[in-house]
Amino acid sequence: MNEKDFYTKTFEYLPAITNKVMESESFQEKMARTFTDFLELQHLYDSAIEVVKTYLGILDSEFSVKFQRNPIHNIESRLKSPQSIIGKLQKKGLPITTEAARNNLLDMAGIRVTCCYISDIYAIADLLSRRDDFEIIKQKDYIINPKPSGYRSYHMIINVPVHLATKKTYAPVEIQIRTIAMDFWASLEHQLKYKTSNEIPPELSEELRDCADKIAETDIQMQKIFAQLNDY
Ligand code: GTP
Ligand code: MG
Repeated sequence: MNEKDFYTKTFEYLPAITNKVMESESFQEKMARTFTDFLELQHLYDSAIEVVKTYLGILDSEFSVKFQRNPIHNIESRLKSPQSIIGKLQKKGLPITTEAARNNLLDMAGIRVTCCYISDIYAIADLLSRRDDFEIIKQKDYIINPKPSGYRSYHMIINVPVHLATKKTYAPVEIQIRTIAMDFWASLEHQLKYKTSNEIPPELSEELRDCADKIAETDIQMQKIFAQLNDY
């Protein structure tokens, strides 16, 4: 395989970039640069995820040392795939470049934290916002203000410092914090929406919202039981 074929193959999943660069004269140079830019971007966002995950791990173990329990049940993370980055840039009518992605997509790096109790969500969100090197770009409380679907979670977008070999740079990370119960609902609802090619009929949407409301009640009940047992 020659170099041109190699890059073409590598970028099979990036047809927009491939088509654009194909027309240009210095195909190989541009392809190589795009490839390097993209890898560097992925590395930066991946590192930002690691910074946040490390801090969350420290918070969780500190809780465990001080209070003999873990507020965090699970942490998942993901980097947005190249296909999905391109899809979103196209949808927004933006150029398919790493620069446009950096400037406009705030959810390329995502972390989902599942907590045991509602109070743990607010404790984690508060501690994240107190770190003076984390800049909160956006936060939305979908627990107090659930989405019409019934979706509940606490969302934050934080600009996270990443210390690279020769510079300190920042990357935004989207953090979704929710209870195990909220996560159960969101995961299944997402699957159901994804599986159905057509819109979910209104009566079933209503039933789904009803499930979310019941789950929210249970979360509050569990929180109360936890508080009462703590008082003993
Ligand atoms: P996008 O541009 O679609 O990412 O939305 P946004 O950036 O305006 O943020 P928003 O807070 O609306 O949603 C961000 C993420 O929250 C989504 O990508 C989902 O992971 C999650 N989310 C939001 N609404 C729902 C919902 O109704 N159901 C489920 N399962 N997840 C949701
Ligand atoms: Mg999103």
